[in-house]
Amino acid sequence: MLPTINFTETAAYKYLTDHFIGINEKSLKDLFTEDASRFEKFSLLFEDILVDYSKNRIDDTTMALLMQLARECKLDEAIKAMFNGEKINQTEGRQVLHIALRNQGNNPILVDGKDVMEEVNKVLEKMDKFSQDIISGSWKGYTGKAITDVVNIGIGGSDLGPVMVTEALKAYKNHLNMHFVSNIDGTHIAETLKNVDPETTLFLIASKTFTTQETMTNANSAKDWFLNSGAEQGDVAKHFAALSTNAKDVSAFGIDTNNMFEFWDWVGGRYSLWSAIGLPIALSIGFDNFKQLLAGAHTADTHFENTEFENNVPVILALIGIWYINFFDAETQAILPYDQYMHRFAAYFQQGDMESNGKHVDRNGNDVTYETGPIIWGEPGTNGQHAFYQLIHQGTRLIPCDFIAPAQSLNPLGEHHPILLSNFFAQTEALMNGKTKAQVIAELEKEGKTSEEIEKLAPFKVFEGNRPTNSILLKKVTPFSLGTLIAIYEHKIFVQGIIWNIFSFDQWGVELGKQLAKSILPELEGEQEVQSHDASTNGLINQYKNWR
Ligand code: F6P
Repeated sequence: MLPTINFTETAAYKYLTDHFIGINEKSLKDLFTEDASRFEKFSLLFEDILVDYSKNRIDDTTMALLMQLARECKLDEAIKAMFNGEKINQTEGRQVLHIALRNQGNNPILVDGKDVMEEVNKVLEKMDKFSQDIISGSWKGYTGKAITDVVNIGIGGSDLGPVMVTEALKAYKNHLNMHFVSNIDGTHIAETLKNVDPETTLFLIASKTFTTQETMTNANSAKDWFLNSGAEQGDVAKHFAALSTNAKDVSAFGIDTNNMFEFWDWVGGRYSLWSAIGLPIALSIGFDNFKQLLAGAHTADTHFENTEFENNVPVILALIGIWYINFFDAETQAILPYDQYMHRFAAYFQQGDMESNGKHVDRNGNDVTYETGPIIWGEPGTNGQHAFYQLIHQGTRLIPCDFIAPAQSLNPLGEHHPILLSNFFAQTEALMNGKTKAQVIAELEKEGKTSEEIEKLAPFKVFEGNRPTNSILLKKVTPFSLGTLIAIYEHKIFVQGIIWNIFSFDQWGVELGKQLAKSILPELEGEQEVQSHDASTNGLINQYKNWR
């Protein structure tokens, strides 16, 4: 069982509340002037990842109090509970063991007294063989041709992780063309099917439950398309595989259970890219690279489980996040990768973070009296700079940002990478230091502006600065380093959920809309006017029926 402590009632929280008043008056610039050793103190080199958190509105006391907060909230017990396979997803009565999927040491991990590593390794072996067969071309389609295209059909955790990782690791990919269909909008599958050949296409139906409406509708459309192209029912086995926990429904769909890659209910959807859900990743970059991804994540797991909080990357990042959300009232968190390949990283953690910590009921079943999960958003730099950075620099809101960049480019082309990285370094510096009125005036004078013009223009050109950032500098984006980075963010989310005293591994909030959509669907049939809803919903449905 997880602890159920209200963090706002801890001694650390009270000290932090007082301490906040002083810190809030200080600028980051002052903090750097006061303490020349800030970078050494507030940065960590972990594997080939440098995490610099010195440009945050923190000092030694802040960090010490945040660590005390984690201790008072019994974070250590919670970490043990997860790694020991306790049923910490209490509202669903499940363990939370994505760490077992990347447990390279093969230390036994028990679920209800049974070591799961045997099953985990069995599925990994099956994925290894299957991906080798597909990549090498020894697996033939129904007309004897090798597979050229893989279409993954899934949504949420059964889509976002594989999409994000295959994109992030595109530089490592082989000849297979990868496609991902998630949206129930028929456009998604229709446009995808225009570009593939039934004789050479493999469909992966990725669904933990194998009941998700979007996925099953898309899967059935794909099967109909396949069968209408001249293939027969018996050919489905050569072109459809399932990634699921639900053997019964996989079989009922017509997929040979030999082509089913299993995982288990102790793997949360948004933590499932390490499981059979990662099969498209293995197909895209080869199984050895997939294993490297797992190995990278395992390194982060070991670090998270065994490192004292003061040097524990996920713990530090989580506590700094809490500092902004609960003391500075920050509402959002931007994730800004300076790496084009990582363009879906923020989108991936929108689900990872917001589905995990978007909760307002605490672990005692009471409404919380404080803010919980932030709104996660972001785009790759430098595109973001030309879109929304204006608001980060000069808007009215405090937006803590994570800047992520690789030191080595996977496409070293002329000056591109140094230019990209100069922007990465410049942005966090600019956000921290800003530009004073005196600097603005000096610049305008240099441009030859009159004092009247300067008076008018200056206020708009001032940057307050004092805007906090983390800089995460990777040596290079590799399967290993990406695995480590993803796992760091996963554990950060876990730590925040523990401090906020919420359950991070259920997602009841997505159910209501699903239920209502199911009851509305039959009402969309026929011509009769709908009157069973509120006036707005009735009006919308009836206008739709008029226009369709
Ligand atoms: O959005 C809700 C959710 O349950 C996610 O948690 C999950 O990743 C997604 O739906 C897909 O579920 P499944 O893999 O069962 O199709």
